[in-house]
Amino acid sequence: TKHKVGYLIGSLATASINRKLAKALVRLAPPELEMDEISFRELPLYSYDYDADFPPVAKAFKAAIAAVDAVLFVTPEYNRSIPGALKNAIDWASRPYGSNSFTRKPSAVIGTSPGAIGTAIAQQSLRSVLGFCNSPQMNAPEAYIQFRPGLITDDGEVTDPTVEEFLRNYMTEFEAFITRVYMALPKGT
Ligand code: FNR
Repeated sequence: TKHKVGYLIGSLATASINRKLAKALVRLAPPELEMDEISFRELPLYSYDYDADFPPVAKAFKAAIAAVDAVLFVTPEYNRSIPGALKNAIDWASRPYGSNSFTRKPSAVIGTSPGAIGTAIAQQSLRSVLGFCNSPQMNAPEAYIQFRPGLITDDGEVTDPTVEEFLRNYMTEFEAFITRVYMALPKGT
């Protein structure tokens, strides 16, 4: 069966290396996965003052999360955590209280950085947030991608075959994980 996957790119930067990684993951995903970006660029900063009446941009964001079977986070590490804009987007989707869009929605986390630990600490921090949001997370494989110039082209072509195979396998495993989650838990429950 086909599964819809919404992916969130943690970086808003034009030349984002995580956007390149996301493009590579779209290319390498198995045909069972339908991949679409969910943008959070236009969201204002969340406060619960909005809970009574979300602005249209936030309603659209929540609806986009609700419409997919799974969410993939492709994020940089900023100061050993996730970028504030991504955390803000997650906070929006988790509210108002009682309509958390991540509940029982499978997710996976991946990211790239020029640093040797390849976003490991940001990913750990994001996993804690997703745990609280009750999203079943793919535990393995983990993917900490150290970015070297040219590793992935602007079009998402991976120039190192070992890394390419690793990322292909990551997406294959994600597809298998999503299938397992929905075997145990029919959609809409
Ligand atoms: C960084 N960078 C960074 N790298 C890292 O490995 N660990 C970190 O904690 C940080 N902290 C950090 C904070 C801020 C505010 C910036 C702007 C950058 C470097 C970062 O990995 C690098 O800029 C990447 O290019 C960011 O990914 P995107 O935005 O290009 O996808």
